[in-house]
Amino acid sequence: MSNLIQIGATDPTAQAPESISVPEVEKGVGCDFDSYLFSPDGSWDERIASAKERLGSRVVILGHHYQRDEVVKFADFRGDSLKLSQQAAGTDADYIVFCGVHFMAESADVLRRPHQVVVLPDLGAGCSMADMAEIGQVESCWEELRAAGIDNVVPITYMNSTAAIKAFTGRQGGAVCTSSNANVVMRWAFERGERVLFLPDEHLGRNTAVALGLDLDRMAVWDPLEELGGNDEETLARSRVILWKGYCSVHQRFQPEHVDHVRSAYPGIRVMVHPECRMEVVQKADIAGSTEKIIKAVSAAGPGTSWAIGTEIHLVNRLAREFPEQQIVSLDPHVCVCTTMFRISPQHLAWALENLAEDRVVNRIEVDAKTRQWARVALERMLELR
Ligand code: 13P
Ligand code: SF4
Repeated sequence: MSNLIQIGATDPTAQAPESISVPEVEKGVGCDFDSYLFSPDGSWDERIASAKERLGSRVVILGHHYQRDEVVKFADFRGDSLKLSQQAAGTDADYIVFCGVHFMAESADVLRRPHQVVVLPDLGAGCSMADMAEIGQVESCWEELRAAGIDNVVPITYMNSTAAIKAFTGRQGGAVCTSSNANVVMRWAFERGERVLFLPDEHLGRNTAVALGLDLDRMAVWDPLEELGGNDEETLARSRVILWKGYCSVHQRFQPEHVDHVRSAYPGIRVMVHPECRMEVVQKADIAGSTEKIIKAVSAAGPGTSWAIGTEIHLVNRLAREFPEQQIVSLDPHVCVCTTMFRISPQHLAWALENLAEDRVVNRIEVDAKTRQWARVALERMLELR
């Protein structure tokens, strides 16, 4: 337990003093979110459970592994991006409440059935990585490549991208990938084209290409703020993979020195990192994998195993709590929290569910029909590959 890092002190909703008067709860149902703000997290459990019970099979709650415990404990399905997108495609509930970030809810909306509605409890739960590839920038990149005679390119976009980028990928003959299946999707892409344009995570793209045996000198980085992405035509012509210059601010924090440090501080420790970490970290680690793979590795390990895990802190803390017979520490001594995942609070979940229970849809995520059509193509190509 002493390894756990406490999160929550920075959450204004979690800190609200109990003496603040709470608007009458019954009248609060269905009114705007402000009336849900000033109450400690734990006090929402009963209201969430009761709204969920009232909704019954009409609602399904999906929770990403990086969500806070107070929220994820209400999830009907917990998973990484791949697992949750499969769940979203398979569920029949009227309401899909997505406790995750915006791009995940968009994907659920793309895969939903016609009668379903997707809700993101806090619209502020975005993803800085997804925001690093804007559709206009990606379309310009595509045109510049064409103009430079760099063709036969298959785009792959990481799940962590907007629906517009997924639609672009679908239209251009590419597919979506997640951190669980990036290698399978990249292999598939190389059966179709000579080159891959990998969006928007430079690190996942590079780590995947290296794992497939590609040389670093056959990879170019595309900086959307520079002409030709900051490359000359020769570099692009030689490249097999063009990596969009985007990154996850949580995972990019992990440094190779952190690996050196934990290895000397905890002799025999195993280091496991998410592939959104930079290549230098992944190469020093014992295992790299998606959140689901990290969980499986810990679950399969015996008592006494020591792990330093390089991923979002809520998952690391949860694993440390669930496997007390193993030693589990964060690879970074400073907290690596995804602040946007953290925005989904019990208050937001209660607000969304109580409104739904009154047949009021709040914070609906709706992708327009044309975008949905092509984004679906790109997502289904991935789901078919498994
Ligand atoms: P996975 O859930 O695919 O492991 O991705 C981690 C992540 O960064 C989600 O935003
Ligand atoms: Fe985006 Fe990184 Fe947060 Fe995932 S962990 S939602 S990639 S910022």
